Amino acid sequence: MGLRRKIKKFLYNLKYPNAKFIIDLNKKKVLVTGSNSGIGLSLVKQILEHDNQVFATYREKSDKLDGIKNVNLFKIKCDQSKTEDYISLENKLKNVNIDIIINCAGIFGPSFKDQEIENISLEKFRDAIMVNSLSIIKISQIILKNSKPQIILNLSSDAGSISLNKSGDAYIYRTSKSALNSITKNMSVDLKKKYGTTVLAIDPGNVQSGMNSKGYMESDKCANIILDIISNNVEELNGKFINLSKNELSW
Ligand SMILES: NC(=O)c1ccc[n+]([C@@H]2O[C@H](COP(=O)([O-])OP(=O)(O)OC[C@H]3O[C@@H](n4cnc5c(N)ncnc54)[C@H](OP(=O)(O)O)[C@@H]3O)[C@@H](O)[C@H]2O)c1
Repeated sequence: MGLRRKIKKFLYNLKYPNAKFIIDLNKKKVLVTGSNSGIGLSLVKQILEHDNQVFATYREKSDKLDGIKNVNLFKIKCDQSKTEDYISLENKLKNVNIDIIINCAGIFGPSFKDQEIENISLEKFRDAIMVNSLSIIKISQIILKNSKPQIILNLSSDAGSISLNKSGDAYIYRTSKSALNSITKNMSVDLKKKYGTTVLAIDPGNVQSGMNSKGYMESDKCANIILDIISNNVEELNGKFINLSKNELSW
């Protein structure tokens, strides 16, 4: 890593100190999607450390999840682009009361070049919308059949903010995250009224992961900050789109 990058990474991490303490996050049943890598995997590990049960979904391979030996970890295969996988997810969660949903699964979609307007494939666009946006509706439908979750946290991106868009690129990723933001806002009004559920979206920042191999922040640190946020007065964040400093981003 070049010196310039090292300095940028150092300064970036200074902006987001490690969370000090996690309170009030134990004995919960937590569903984490996209949990075989990156932020999702780090969240699973840390949530388990706090005496919770974790229902961790993965797309295809569960190799990294398999390395976690914990009786409170329940692995469920769910490729969120496939309708049949939701049926098996529903069957596996039939008798489970989920307290917290963390929707981590996400894809960037095709390369930047293939997300230029001249090159966009509508099929690939549809796939990204399915995984990044519509799956949140489907998963919520499944969980709401048995549970009144306290929290639904959606991993969004500042790329999904319409007003912050200054570069005009990545149509597929941006649109799918904008749709996710819209769904988040709507659910925050609707589900708060019906079930008291707090629903919010978070931009995790620049995190090293499967999607972003050169990210500045370690996924463990990101997960630690996210858990601190959802375990301290999260109700105040209902209907908000925030970053890791809890600052609000414009939709
Ligand atoms: N890292 C960043 O800098 C950054 C910035 C802004 C927002 N985010 C958001 O943060 C979330 C977590 O991403 P990450 O950074 O941790 O990247 P990641 O390591 O690539 O994690 C994404 C996860 O989503 C899963 N996934 C992909 N397609 C799926 C499908 N069809 N069905 C079910 N799961 C699927 C992946 O599974 P496989 O490994 O099997 O493909 C992977 O486990 C994403 O929603 C991302 O958009 C990340």
